[in-house]
Amino acid sequence: MKIGITGATGQLGQLVVQKLKEKKTGAKLIALVRNPEQAASLKIEARTFDYDQPDALPQALEGIDHLVFISGSEIGKREAQHYHVIEAAKQAHVKKIAYTSLLHADTSSMILAPEHLATEKMLQDSGIPHTILRNGWYTENYTVGLKSAIEQGAIIGSAGDGKISSATREDYAEALAETIINDDHIGKTYELAGDQTYTMQDLAAEVSKQTGKNIEFVNLPEEQYAEKLQQVGLPEGMAKAFASLDYSASKNDLYNQDQMLSKLIKRPTTQLHQAVKQALIEIGYNL
Ligand SMILES: NC(=O)c1ccc[n+]([C@@H]2O[C@H](COP(=O)([O-])OP(=O)(O)OC[C@H]3O[C@@H](n4cnc5c(N)ncnc54)[C@H](OP(=O)(O)O)[C@@H]3O)[C@@H](O)[C@H]2O)c1
Repeated sequence: MKIGITGATGQLGQLVVQKLKEKKTGAKLIALVRNPEQAASLKIEARTFDYDQPDALPQALEGIDHLVFISGSEIGKREAQHYHVIEAAKQAHVKKIAYTSLLHADTSSMILAPEHLATEKMLQDSGIPHTILRNGWYTENYTVGLKSAIEQGAIIGSAGDGKISSATREDYAEALAETIINDDHIGKTYELAGDQTYTMQDLAAEVSKQTGKNIEFVNLPEEQYAEKLQQVGLPEGMAKAFASLDYSASKNDLYNQDQMLSKLIKRPTTQLHQAVKQALIEIGYNL
């Protein structure tokens, strides 16, 4: 049995490889990556796999039974890229795919939703047995900015008082590992999110509590937030996309209470206070 993992050099993919190793199923793991040299630390076979190189993909999938298909990271290019991957999987007779979609992809106002929904449809049309993991936000999307938030005394965004049920990459990686090795999940679409729901005000309060500093949440209209992001160096397109996504969070697009993720991983998802603590340790904050 061979399990291929796309995006295995990415942050989620590396954790999926680690979780699959821990499961000790005896399956051979193969990293399907743009740059095999970057996959050396994974210590598994690595094959070149670029979603933009459709002609090379079927051969790279030769012998792969099950495919962990991590969505690409270039917004706007992904429908075509994912089509290439699914067509190649058909040609290579891949027997099962687990795909990382977006929470509430069918109803979400997020600009990411159409590409994910199109990919889900392609998977359905492909005839390949599959599981769709509609992942909510990574808690790390917020904790990655804590250093500057502490310096400024503020977390800035456009999420208003939107309810957010995020989980860590590690939580989602465990779910991916579980769904690719267990056939019970074939044909299922899971809405995956954290057990705990919080607002950006709650996040600011948690950071204040743990650091002993007063950190406010400052809510800005989407356009003003995009301008702020540009001022700190983000390219215009990316700044507008991030602000738009954050504004979607104000409409509760990141809220879910299915608790399916914790059911899949058979433990509670990582709590906000744990993720904040971990992030503060990583930035060397003296707790
Ligand atoms: N749920 C969330 O909060 C959230 C947030 C951000 C992104 N996402 C989605 O979840 C995915 C995984 O997240 P992550 O944190 O692991 O992101 P990441 O660290 O940016 O990793 C993305 C991975 O996709 C690979 N990739 C991108 N374009 C590719 C292409 N054309 N061909 C082959 N591989 C390609 C990258 O390859 P390289 O290693 O060669 O760069 C990388 O391994 C993202 O790609 C995105 O679709 C979700």
